[in-house]
Amino acid sequence: MIPHSRPTLDEEDRQAVLNVLQTGRLVQGEQVAGFEADLSAMIGASHAAAVSSGTAALHLALIALGAGDGDEVICPSYVCSAVLHAVRCVKAAPVIADIERDTFNIDVQDVKKRMTAKTKAIIVPHLFGLPADMAGILSLGIPVIEDCAQAPGSRFRGRFTGSFGRISIFSFYATKVIAAGEGGMLLSSDSGLIEKIRDLRDYDERDDDALRYNYKMTDMQAALGRSQLRKIDGFIKRRREIAGHYDLILQKAGIPIPVTPPEREHIYYRYVILLDQAEMFIEAMNQSGVACRRPVFKPLHRYLGLSGYSVTDDVWKRAVSIPIYPSLTERELFDITESIKKTGDSGGLRGC
Ligand SMILES: Cc1ncc(COP(=O)(O)O)c(C=O)c1O
Repeated sequence: MIPHSRPTLDEEDRQAVLNVLQTGRLVQGEQVAGFEADLSAMIGASHAAAVSSGTAALHLALIALGAGDGDEVICPSYVCSAVLHAVRCVKAAPVIADIERDTFNIDVQDVKKRMTAKTKAIIVPHLFGLPADMAGILSLGIPVIEDCAQAPGSRFRGRFTGSFGRISIFSFYATKVIAAGEGGMLLSSDSGLIEKIRDLRDYDERDDDALRYNYKMTDMQAALGRSQLRKIDGFIKRRREIAGHYDLILQKAGIPIPVTPPEREHIYYRYVILLDQAEMFIEAMNQSGVACRRPVFKPLHRYLGLSGYSVTDDVWKRAVSIPIYPSLTERELFDITESIKKTGDSGGLRGC
């Protein structure tokens, strides 16, 4: 079976982790500090704090912005439930906005309708590696948490995502673009925000007993993350090559390919298409040895029992994610291509 996701690891990655093991110092130390410096330099944000996951990063970003009981935090309906959990952690009310059908990202016009005097912040994921409309988002005038969990290295108007919001977060989960097993990072140009986050991520040896967490990253994770980050340009290049390959096959089959609006640079964390018979396509591909998936397990509004999210509902029903990662071999790519063609020939591939 060709898996839907897989990390891309090499000897350099293994050596980086082994080097940390040899020092005997495993906890947050110089590798974590180095990883913070590396990512912040790349993205162009002056301050960084590494943490244990993307979810922990979202949680601390919300605390740092002062979101709490009685506040509202806007987030899109079409994203993984980590976003919802983070909002719940600070006891704020999640306000769910619909998405754009073409880009799968949060719909600025729908956000406008849902803003109130209680709106404290907005979480803006750059879904599947495609930047959201940051010009539209910034024009709303509310504090922005950019969620770059799926989009390190993507750009909007030539600038890296993660450099637009008050604060941005990243994830280094095992199958993310930069894999460290688990891990997260917060970036900001506001030193006060990052200082607060550094205080919150570690509870030990403090004079007061204010609520703090153990959200630290280990040096083993950081060393792996740094080694991966050194290869990010090659990773993204390969993702784009594979996406170009899928574009050609699908266009030949008359299937609409993923849209990249002008001034945005997609990194194809996921390659997602909309099909009439998504379930049937996924089943047929699985049968031929290729794991395809619905890219979002369940939209957030459904967890909350809300209705009125017609774009998300339609996209959720039709969206299919095809394997795309740098460690896909030419042989695997060939097999995926053949499976797509075969599924098309048997009527399981119809775009919408
Ligand atoms: C958009 C988005 N935000 C946040 C997260 C949470 O990251 P983590 O799994 O590192 O907690 C994810 C993880 O899948 C994600 O896709």
